[in-house]
Amino acid sequence: MIEIAAIWCQDRDKLLGKKGDCELLWHLKEDFDFFRRVTSDPTARGNHVVMGVETYRSLPKRPLPKRLNWILCFPDERRALETEFAGDLAGKNLRICTSLSEVSEYIATRAVSVSDVDKVFIIGGASVYNWAVTTNQVQKVYVTEIDYSFAQDTELSVYVYAPELAMNTDYMPISSTEWMFSESDLTPTGEKIKYRFCQYALKAHPKCSQ
Ligand SMILES: NC(=O)c1ccc[n+]([C@@H]2O[C@H](COP(=O)([O-])OP(=O)(O)OC[C@H]3O[C@@H](n4cnc5c(N)ncnc54)[C@H](OP(=O)(O)O)[C@@H]3O)[C@@H](O)[C@H]2O)c1
Repeated sequence: MIEIAAIWCQDRDKLLGKKGDCELLWHLKEDFDFFRRVTSDPTARGNHVVMGVETYRSLPKRPLPKRLNWILCFPDERRALETEFAGDLAGKNLRICTSLSEVSEYIATRAVSVSDVDKVFIIGGASVYNWAVTTNQVQKVYVTEIDYSFAQDTELSVYVYAPELAMNTDYMPISSTEWMFSESDLTPTGEKIKYRFCQYALKAHPKCSQ
């Protein structure tokens, strides 16, 4: 079975970012390093990162190197995206899909053995995370938690949030590091960002019975 994981960074209130604005509300170098380390695979042919179009548009360098990038869209959007990203699609590491099974099928046809399958990571944004988690399509979730509330606007509807995991009976926490302080990055009020790395797994997943 091809494991599909999701990976995100949230604040104390599960905030992910601002609606319609893919610029992250924080900079946490340790989280960027973690993201790169988990999603890249220097030894194999490369892992897969799946994202919505807003997240893809927001990548400072796109497609992400050393990973096969997939834009997830609805079938009627496909043609427009193929036109918009024709240049990137001419390279080798961007593809467009309309379902996660399209990604799994692509991987299955390329794998030469059961242990040889690539890993798949959903990397955003909010609508894709919420859809994938509420439909139990991800087996594992990597969450970087920041112990700070970044919402400055009193109008909370401008923000987008991560799916609930702790209260979700389908997922359970499987690991968490201690809280740590960033070496280089500060909150807007000038304190070192406090963060930890957590993992959740879908209850039916083998990791949960360890
Ligand atoms: N903190 C983090 O780790 C992190 C990581 C990535 C992004 N973000 C934040 O997330 C926000 C962007 O999220 P977003 O939701 O606006 O954009 P997005 O998820 O990147 O892209 C949204 C697009 O994907 C489509 N889509 C959603 N679910 C789909 C599905 N199941 N199948 C096919 N297409 C689907 C949406 O269609 P519809 O509009 O029709 O639903 C929409 O066109 C930003 O604030 C960004 O900063 C945070």
